[in-house]
Amino acid sequence: MINQTTIDEIKSRMDIVEVVGDFVALKKSGQNYKALSPFGNEKTPSFYVVPSKGIFKDFSSGKGGDSITFIMEIDGSSYLEALKYLAKKYGVEIVEEERTDEQLQAQNERESLFIVLNFAKDYFQNILWEHEEGKSIGLSYFKERGFTEETIKSFDLGYSLNIWDGLIKEADKKGYKQEFIEKAGLKIVKEDRSYDRFRGRVIFPIHNITGKVVAFGARILVKDKKQPKYINSPETELYHKSHVLYGIFQAKQAIRQADNCYLVEGYTDVISMHQAGVKNVVASSGTALTEDQIKLISRYTKNITVLFDGDSAGIKAAMRGIDMILEGGLNVRAISFPEGEDPDSYAKQLSPTALTGFLEDESIDFIKFKTNLYNKDSGADPVRKAQTIREIVNSIAKIPDSIKRTVYIKECSSLLDIEESIVVAELNKILITANKERQIKELRKPVDQVIQEEPQINEKQGSSKSLDSIINDQERESLRMLINYGTRVILDQEDNQQYLVSYFFSEIEDVEFVNPVYNKILKICKQKFEDGEIVTSKYLLSLSDEAIKNTVVDLVTDKYDISELWQNKYGIVIPREEDKLKNVTYSNIVRLKFRVIEKLVMNAKESLKKAENVEEEISRQENYIKLKRMQMQIADILGIVIT
Ligand code: CTP
Ligand code: MN
Repeated sequence: MINQTTIDEIKSRMDIVEVVGDFVALKKSGQNYKALSPFGNEKTPSFYVVPSKGIFKDFSSGKGGDSITFIMEIDGSSYLEALKYLAKKYGVEIVEEERTDEQLQAQNERESLFIVLNFAKDYFQNILWEHEEGKSIGLSYFKERGFTEETIKSFDLGYSLNIWDGLIKEADKKGYKQEFIEKAGLKIVKEDRSYDRFRGRVIFPIHNITGKVVAFGARILVKDKKQPKYINSPETELYHKSHVLYGIFQAKQAIRQADNCYLVEGYTDVISMHQAGVKNVVASSGTALTEDQIKLISRYTKNITVLFDGDSAGIKAAMRGIDMILEGGLNVRAISFPEGEDPDSYAKQLSPTALTGFLEDESIDFIKFKTNLYNKDSGADPVRKAQTIREIVNSIAKIPDSIKRTVYIKECSSLLDIEESIVVAELNKILITANKERQIKELRKPVDQVIQEEPQINEKQGSSKSLDSIINDQERESLRMLINYGTRVILDQEDNQQYLVSYFFSEIEDVEFVNPVYNKILKICKQKFEDGEIVTSKYLLSLSDEAIKNTVVDLVTDKYDISELWQNKYGIVIPREEDKLKNVTYSNIVRLKFRVIEKLVMNAKESLKKAENVEEEISRQENYIKLKRMQMQIADILGIVIT
């Protein structure tokens, strides 16, 4: 743990322009800086650095945040690693928090495990390259499989001798504690004896994203019905199977560059594809894909292509994987290999160019994939067809983004030759059920988590704040919704589909914002909307008005920071705002109305006091009461008590 003073010190010194400037060629643009996005391939710059706010914002990928976020994104590092990087850059000495004995021991234990695992990796590698048995059995096996020496080395492959205590003895000799050998999963301890877990097998070390070995997979070389083909390290303090992807360390750079990640089944698939020049490939290693693994990939790309063996038995389980990827908001495509082939065998058969060509030509979106799969031999059977539709719509329902859903609905209807309205009806059925389930879950959430999710305005709504600044915040919040989510389709109060922007303007007709810049932006949005266009942040940032641009960068980045921070710091995942867009917009509009009326009420009260004759007093009194009544009504909706 780095202590808070150190963190504060780092934060006070870090300069977003310097930090980003180490990686990106920045060009000055007004008070800010612009560049081509380091996260994507773009021709016109949409990457901004706002020094006054200490933030960056990348409109092509949607990434944004402070210097720490930037390092995490560009480097794929953790929060802690990013802090350490910045500390080094700015010469801040890292003061570690005083730890309890228990924490100290846990920390030491993790470090010891890493050290022991690294020793084991070296040992297995050494046997493979130097030992007679290793060379004649292990190395020749890898070479027979077509792995080059370079490949074998870059994946740290090794070999374990076919004896009971090869590693145990070597560890003893080198002074490693047997306690850690056991805790690292390298030794099996039975009541009366203990022995090496890996014996007579070739070894595949499993690395975490920073390249440290956390576990091993080991393949048997002889045909033996009594033994499993692979044995793997057990779950340990450092190895949580569901969090790790085989090959991620070797692939992460390539994944980012290609903006796509190929997902295969096994160790050898990863290695062979890598050798054939396709380096953006990882494996879930025999287990079903997990949510954490998808999150890991999504740090580098939002696009996953799943590769299926020609005769994959677990294709249904793999389907679940596709749905999970969709649920995570990522795009998914699929490739099936010819009968009897898998990525490993095929990569060896084809030249690198042919392989790349195959992957590009054969990759299809999940709708086509599912259609092919379920429609294979159903012919015109209406029952089977209905089932196919339901299967596909089920997957579409998993996609959080409604516009994307709409696109896929169109494709589904044309591909299966059914009316769009039928697909939509089917989808709505599923969505409504899913929504109810979500609402129930929401209701059961712990209170402190719910408080964190409340819109910003609530936290600041302390009594010390002036009404004007509350109104300012509210205006800001409304604009933020408009700019970020204006093009989203939501259901209005009567459950009709509407663009958020049109819902907004139909609810709030002639509002004037107090803040002049906000008002300017609002008027632009309104004008464009009346011309039949929806204003996006991109458009606003293309205007030459500096004040508008600054505000917009601000508006687009703000919320992101908060959820990023919570996620990184405390591991709490805040449901994305977009997921509950309708509620947020509605409550936002109501709040806005409430604030505007609150101000009107105050003005009315003031002018009532200043009435000079009875007629004036009566008419002003009427006006005041009318406004007060409106305010009460809205307060009622919001559950606010007014005096
Ligand atoms: N696997 C496992 N335990 C097993 C079998 C398989 O952990 N008993 C995992 C391994 O990660 C393996 C993947 O499932 O890589 C795919 O299995 P398989 O296709 O049998 O293995 P390959 O790696 O393709 O091995 P090979 O080509 O050498 O037969
Ligand atoms: Mn194989």
